Amino acid sequence: MENGKGAKTMPDKSHQKRILVLHGPNLNLLGKREPDIYGHESLVEIDARLKERGEKLGIVVETFQSNHEGALVDKIQQAAGTVQGVVINPAAYTHTSVAIRDALAMLDIPIVEIHLSNIHRREPFRHQSMIADIVAARIAGFGSYGYLLALEGLIEMLKRG
Ligand code: DQA
Repeated sequence: MENGKGAKTMPDKSHQKRILVLHGPNLNLLGKREPDIYGHESLVEIDARLKERGEKLGIVVETFQSNHEGALVDKIQQAAGTVQGVVINPAAYTHTSVAIRDALAMLDIPIVEIHLSNIHRREPFRHQSMIADIVAARIAGFGSYGYLLALEGLIEMLKRG
């Protein structure tokens, strides 16, 4: 965008809806980590595709990954009042974290849970999700494409109100 004087200005996105995409532990190693289960795409590639798709749909997509439960809880707390929806793959914390569940439960915006693998086809300890009953929708088993499905589904949900 130009400001009329030839200088570039940042597009004003302050009026746009915002979605936060959260990735839990070990997802920073996507592409290298057990590729037969989690695929060959890196998290950087996944995040770039989500931001690009958001931009096309007029939504600001913010992404955040941490290997630390507390950092994820902090980010979820900060989401209150600043974003209109959350997509989350809590990774291993899916199965263990009451703290992440409690933080998400305080948000009164739609949340979509996503897993690359179909957790219900895997070891029994992965069948339980601490957040399944507090999210608006869940996606599992589509690999990295699931993130796009989650984002688009959430945007559709927000449109319908
Ligand atoms: C995962 C499934 C979890 O069981 C596992 O701990 C992960 C990734 C998935 O995306 O398939 O780290 O959430």
